[in-house]
Amino acid sequence: MKIAVLPGDGIGPEVTAEAVAVLESLALPGLTLFSGDVGGAAYHRHGVPLPDETLEVARVADAILFGAVGDPACDALERHLRPEQAILGLRKHLGLFANLRPARVFAGLEHLSPLRTDIAGGLDLLIVRELTGDVYFGAKGQRVTDDGEREGWDAMSYAEHEVRRIAHVAFRAAAVSGQPLTSVDKANVLETSQLWRDVVIEVAAEYPGVTLDHMYVDNAAMQVVSHPDRFGVVLTGNLFGDILSDLASAAVGSIGLLPSASLGERQTAHGTYGLYEPIHGSAPDIAGQGKANPMATILSAAMMLRHSFGREDDAVRIEAAVARTLADGILGGDLGGSHGTAAIGAAVRERL
Ligand code: NAI
Ligand code: MG
Repeated sequence: MKIAVLPGDGIGPEVTAEAVAVLESLALPGLTLFSGDVGGAAYHRHGVPLPDETLEVARVADAILFGAVGDPACDALERHLRPEQAILGLRKHLGLFANLRPARVFAGLEHLSPLRTDIAGGLDLLIVRELTGDVYFGAKGQRVTDDGEREGWDAMSYAEHEVRRIAHVAFRAAAVSGQPLTSVDKANVLETSQLWRDVVIEVAAEYPGVTLDHMYVDNAAMQVVSHPDRFGVVLTGNLFGDILSDLASAAVGSIGLLPSASLGERQTAHGTYGLYEPIHGSAPDIAGQGKANPMATILSAAMMLRHSFGREDDAVRIEAAVARTLADGILGGDLGGSHGTAAIGAAVRERL
């Protein structure tokens, strides 16, 4: 189990240290950790946010645990030297096309959600978003028409193989977790969505154990906040996934609890190559103070065990330990509590 640990800057090193301690406490066979500099930490040492050495460490590993980047000391730098280029560069160089964003309201934390508590309690879903295609990457431009009016356009398209590979990621996730799969599109008006739907139905034939339904994106947005309990795994394209994943995250109401995965095509011995990171940033306002909530990164490590190493049991154990810690009232400042980074990490390991 080769894991590249890239802590980054700000609270990144603090939260990744706790996630690494959780992994080390599990007695995993052949666990080998490598480390590399990214973001502001890399800029200060190497003059670039994503050094070649770091990219090499990421390539030889089976999975990457990424903290966060966004050092404000680098704000004045040219775009290509900014810390954020590190995560964009990793995604691009490593072909990470599948973004997995779980959103879950833990028992006892329903009051943090902007949703009514009885509805929030049913929110526990996984959004699988395609990340490298769709309208963001199509032909685009602006022009002045013959009437002298300005016009902008962006072409939406998906190739069959792009839909097929993201569909496999979502079906595998649904199969492992025993959850139903909802494919979200706009097939009533978009040809791209019609192809999407056809390909998803073809892929479904390979997963007879998974229940599949289709939903238009406008309806899905309503359902996520009115009947979130009807969702298990949600499969969708880049544009719809961008919006729905932020919607679902906001519905949870606590940024320090939300993990993510970005998966590539390469298969490892027991799963899929991927990068795992909390969805929050480097939180410069609290960096270096031992206040950051490490739960999102610990939950990202659980996702890593599930998707890159085929260790569903260990992933579930970590998630259960996090749920118990929260239910026991051990909360960080972001959740209205007073526990620090190290205390929260230790509490999770005790419950493990
Ligand atoms: P942020 O997520 O870093 O912080 C937003 C607010 O949430 C802050 O008040 C922060 O203290 C709090 N917060 C975030 N994570 C927390 C945690 N684990 N525990 C307790 N409180 C937490 O977003 P912000 O402030 O907009 O961005 C800061 C920097 O991070 C920027 O440079 C931004 O570009 C970068 N960023 C990097 C990301 C990444 O590395 N993938 C993702 C998002 C932002
Ligand atoms: Mg977004």
